[in-house]
Amino acid sequence: METAVTAIDSVVPVYPSWAQLWRLPHRSAKWRGWFPFNAPGGTWSFSGRVALYHGLPSLGLPAHSTILVPNYHQGVEIDALLAAGHRLRYYRLDEQLCIDLADLERRLDDAVSALYVTHYFGFAQPLEPIRSFCEAHRLKLIEDCALSLFSRDSGTWLGSVGDLALFSVYKTLPLPHGGFLVTKQPHATVPLRRAPWQSTATQTLDLLQQGLRACGWGQLESRMRHTSHWIAQRVRWDQKRTVTSGGARWDPRLLEYGASSWTVWLMGFMDREEVVARRRANFLRLAAHLRRYVPVPFRELRLGTCPLFLPVLVPDKIRCQRDLEALGVQSVNLWDASHPTCPQDLAEEVSGWRQHCLELPVHQELRPEDIDRVATAVLTVLGNRE
Ligand SMILES: Cc1ncc(COP(=O)(O)O)c(C=O)c1O
Repeated sequence: METAVTAIDSVVPVYPSWAQLWRLPHRSAKWRGWFPFNAPGGTWSFSGRVALYHGLPSLGLPAHSTILVPNYHQGVEIDALLAAGHRLRYYRLDEQLCIDLADLERRLDDAVSALYVTHYFGFAQPLEPIRSFCEAHRLKLIEDCALSLFSRDSGTWLGSVGDLALFSVYKTLPLPHGGFLVTKQPHATVPLRRAPWQSTATQTLDLLQQGLRACGWGQLESRMRHTSHWIAQRVRWDQKRTVTSGGARWDPRLLEYGASSWTVWLMGFMDREEVVARRRANFLRLAAHLRRYVPVPFRELRLGTCPLFLPVLVPDKIRCQRDLEALGVQSVNLWDASHPTCPQDLAEEVSGWRQHCLELPVHQELRPEDIDRVATAVLTVLGNRE
């Protein structure tokens, strides 16, 4: 591996940006035929949490009934369930973040009405045993696919088995925002307002700026940032008052909004086959570089998995993330804090994941040389050059 990481003239973004704007494919409507967008009654929303919140009434759960939720969670999905008036009971995952059905069984009682399952980083939970478990215990199944768009398990699309599935489309595809909801039972759709244009414009600009930085045009990006800041001041526009997708904090204002027509229009440029193929190739390449030096917990990339990141376990995640950033490599810290409603003992069980798991970029815009650069940066930061 010959990549040098000394001069930082470009950045490797952790989410897809608009780095490849210049090679836009023809627009086409084929995305409308892809799961989940082809699901009957599927609905766009501003983001994944909004999809979840508005999908819950379709399940017909008794008011204030209990939903079983995993001890490893982001936190906003938990907030969405609480905001909808449900009680929560946490369950444990095994060392590989796989759902533990025996533990679930012990936590059941008459108050429990649904099971919430998260497919982490694009990797499937065992769907068939989970479906049988829910049927046997008359539970509704909620599939959280916020991190798992376009992933399959033995040919089954993640999100197609549950009574409700939510997607966070903008995490996998370069869109300013966009969640998607799929439900088994038809439901009265709450009319959602179009995302505010200020929010769409700001987040579109972000994609453009990230793209410029990814291409090594940081100076142009910085000039653009200063100009937009100057214009914002002139028109007395406060960006903080605009809703944005992707925040870690619960913001109930988001619940009013669907996706913008701009976001839906942009879908016409997406190429699912390419997204899946490139993410898989990048994952395998990066894992091959790193696995001798760094624990790579999701080793097996089964057919059909569309990985969102390459998770690795590092000794000091915050320092590692900061040092990588200094070398021009972005990463994600999913997720360092438990929701306050999670009991201490269960939170403790996944504290290793929270303290050590860092997510590295493998998205579709990255070329083999970008992946090599990520690997070199990781090994540099951890003190092992390959
Ligand atoms: C597991 C999980 N579920 C739900 C969400 C909510 O998705 P969104 O940010 O699109 O609202 C997130 C967000 O990061 C998440 O990680």
